[in-house]
Amino acid sequence: MAKNPTDASVAIIVLAAGLGTRMKSKKAKVLHRAGGRTLIEHVVRMCRRVAPPENVVVVVGHQAEQVQEAVRGYGVRFAVQKEQLGTGHAVMAAREAVEGRADYVAVLYGDGPLLEEATLRALIEKEQGSTAAAAIITTVLDDPTGYGRVITDSEGRIQAVVEQKAATPEQLAIKVVNSGIYCFRAELLWKHITELTTDNPAGEYYLTDMVEVLRRAGHDVETMMVEDSSQLLGINTRVELAVVDRILRERKLREVMLAGVTVEKPETVTIDPDVEIGRDTIVGPFTQILGRTKIGEDCVIGAGAVISDSELADGVEVGPLTVIQDSKVGPGARIGPYARLRFGNRIEAGAAVGNFVELKNAELGEGAKALHLAYLGDAAIGPGVNVGAGTITCNYDGLKKHRTEVEAGAFIGSNSTLVAPVKIGEGAYVGAGSVITRDVPADSLALGRSRQVVKEGWARERRKKKGGDG
Ligand code: UD1
Ligand code: MG
Repeated sequence: MAKNPTDASVAIIVLAAGLGTRMKSKKAKVLHRAGGRTLIEHVVRMCRRVAPPENVVVVVGHQAEQVQEAVRGYGVRFAVQKEQLGTGHAVMAAREAVEGRADYVAVLYGDGPLLEEATLRALIEKEQGSTAAAAIITTVLDDPTGYGRVITDSEGRIQAVVEQKAATPEQLAIKVVNSGIYCFRAELLWKHITELTTDNPAGEYYLTDMVEVLRRAGHDVETMMVEDSSQLLGINTRVELAVVDRILRERKLREVMLAGVTVEKPETVTIDPDVEIGRDTIVGPFTQILGRTKIGEDCVIGAGAVISDSELADGVEVGPLTVIQDSKVGPGARIGPYARLRFGNRIEAGAAVGNFVELKNAELGEGAKALHLAYLGDAAIGPGVNVGAGTITCNYDGLKKHRTEVEAGAFIGSNSTLVAPVKIGEGAYVGAGSVITRDVPADSLALGRSRQVVKEGWARERRKKKGGDG
């Protein structure tokens, strides 16, 4: 897809200084996450595609540090609104950072993460192609509660936006609402913004009053009605957060499925926005594929698997209820069911990790197997090694971590305890139940357990002597 160039005649102000009282949270509203990203990131990413980064100014206030941190990587600039005296006041706070940089100023709210690039571009183009002082996006909502209502004159032109708190019962019945997305002619915005007052029930400087202010000064204000109201939803409560999260998740799932991935029961599946999945991979129900995970072609991801920040090559099979974190898995490897790759693992081609096996900071060579009930931590397991059921690497001595090395083709008998640092040489055998504390040379057998004693006839003699109830 060809990327549209950004428009340097536009500056964008993103309002993100409020706490978001209705979220009932300690955390600033725009730092809450939906669809795998903070709300502010969604908005800033979209703005970056429309205007050059230095023309995007985010107004911060509540938890300013954290909000800046969340979007610092995008190269945008910031303005601080020390006291949150309303959306109009927030734009005033950005004046110094924005004035003189661009002919048009778009204003968006940081709590509206669904807005699409094409819609914002269309609004800006509408404003650029008209003589109006501003253009604003409106939409129709079945339930307009909480939104500013759009009041029109007899010719259907916008006259004012009335906020929920200030609206009369007749005005509350209006379903045409202000989406909170504006494009102003810069010069007229700065000229008239000083005319905003706090003369309303909330005692705030409402940005929405700019409609009346501009009309009063004899200017036109355009509206752009957008029918798909879903992309205009603003988040004020956790209920709305969940609704938006779902929409964003659905967008990603659609993208993944249209690119050739089968997703079973997609309504139960979570795939983060940066995840990549190859063709003909099958993703089972209730899976979560998170962070920067990359999955190859022809993989099968079993039900309930949780995979984060990992790379899976082609043809990998992940069994149900497996957790894979920050690990690399080679082609054709099988992991799970019920396995846990905690972090820093590298599983080579064709290797297999079975049920109730935990790996941490471990390598498992080509074709190696650890199929049942094992813990391999800080370990390098060579190609073709067979790790028996119940094998444990004792990597921690209470003070320090130590490494275990098992060379190619070695065989570790079931229930072995490998006390690190220790090395098992190529092709060596460790007898089942051994506690191995010293290195085992290549091709040898190590037994680290007490010899079995058999006393023939002992049981029979005992029964004879003691009688017994059985
Ligand atoms: C606002 C609009 C309303 C519109 C709705 C769309 C106003 C007065 N009302 O209402 O017409 O229908 O959005 O979603 O603009 N903020 C600041 N500083 C402040 C106050 C707010 O930066 O002093 C930021 C908030 O962090 C938030 C955004 O502005 O990201 C919007 O504020 P919010 O309180 O959510 O406004 P709404 O009541 O939703
Ligand atoms: Mg809002």
